[in-house]
Amino acid sequence: MGERFEADFRKAMRRLASAVTVVTAAHEGDHHGMTATAVTAVSDAPPSLLACVNRSAGLHDPLLASGRFCINILHADQSGIAEAFGGRRRKDERFAVGEWVTSACGLPFLREAQASIFCDVDCVTPYGSHSVVIGRISDILVAGHVAPLLYQDGRYTVGLGDGIDWVVPI
Ligand SMILES: Cc1cc2nc3c(=O)[nH]c(=O)nc-3n(C[C@H](O)[C@H](O)[C@H](O)COP(=O)(O)O)c2cc1C
Repeated sequence: MGERFEADFRKAMRRLASAVTVVTAAHEGDHHGMTATAVTAVSDAPPSLLACVNRSAGLHDPLLASGRFCINILHADQSGIAEAFGGRRRKDERFAVGEWVTSACGLPFLREAQASIFCDVDCVTPYGSHSVVIGRISDILVAGHVAPLLYQDGRYTVGLGDGIDWVVPI
C-alpha cells in the first residue's frame, strides 16, 4: 500500500459524487457542526443512518457524549454553508452562516435544508481515524424541493432536481 495506491484511492474517491450534509450536535450548552459527505442510510427497520466522523473533528466528542445528532441535507444553493462548516470558518462563527434553529430536543438544525434528520446514537464502531456512528432516527423534517448539493472531483456541484426552478449561484 504505497504512495501510488493512496493517490489512486484519492482519484477514485473524486469520482464518487456525494450529497453534502452538515452534521450537528449540542453538548453542555454549545452547538457543534461539521460538513460531512460520509453519510448514508443504513436501514428502514429500524430507520437508521450512519455518519463517519473523524476522531480529530471538533464535533466528535460532543456528539458521542450527548448521544444525539442531526443530519442536515444541504440544498444546491448552500455551498457557502458547506464551506463554513468544512473548516473555512472558526467553530464559534459557523452557525452565523445560514438560518439555524434549535429543535425541541436542543439540536441545531438548518431551517432551509432539504431535510433535517434527528438521530439517537445507537452504535459506534471505531475504524482507522474515524468513528462510524449509527443513529436511530427519531424525527425528520423535509422541506422545499429536491435540489441536492453534491461534492464531486473536489468541488461543489448540483444534482438533478425535481424540475422546479431554483437558483444556483455556483
Ligand atoms: C465536502 C466535505 C466533506 C467532508 N466530509 C467529512 C466526513 O464525512 N467526515 C469527517 O469526519 N469530515 C469530513 N469533512 C471534513 C470536516 O468537515 C472538516 O475537517 C471540519 O473542519 C472538521 O471540523 P472541526 O474544524 O470542527 O474540527 C468534509 C469536508 C468537506 C469540505
